[in-house]
Amino acid sequence: MIGRLNHVAIAVSDLAAAVANYRDTLGAKVSEPQAEPDHGVTVVFVELPNTKIEFLEPLGEDSPIAKFLEKNPGGGIHHVCYEVDNIIEARDKLKAAGARVLGDGEPKIGAHGKPVLFLHPKDFCGTLTELEQA
Ligand code: CO
Repeated sequence: MIGRLNHVAIAVSDLAAAVANYRDTLGAKVSEPQAEPDHGVTVVFVELPNTKIEFLEPLGEDSPIAKFLEKNPGGGIHHVCYEVDNIIEARDKLKAAGARVLGDGEPKIGAHGKPVLFLHPKDFCGTLTELEQA
């Protein structure tokens, strides 16, 4: 069912430091920061030849990543995102298999303008898992 690894998201408390680290130390191609007020994060995309890394920095009062950074003050891997061909089909199959879909179970439009869903980390090896309809 799942296809390509679309991105790995890393939560950071200091986006500028993360950008400098990846750009200057690792020599990666890094985008301009993009504020996503609807998602409570500012995002930077790191373009790699085979996938992307996304840095997420909290934006606004109740950012969904605030708690994660409280527990991981130095930052850390927040989620992985896999591509699927049909997100509704994937969701229904996963629900039938007993996996928990977060929120109201309806796909939301993600940072790339495509429908996404999140799956409970306890059902997938302790890792918050995002599905994106490619
Ligand atoms: Co994501």
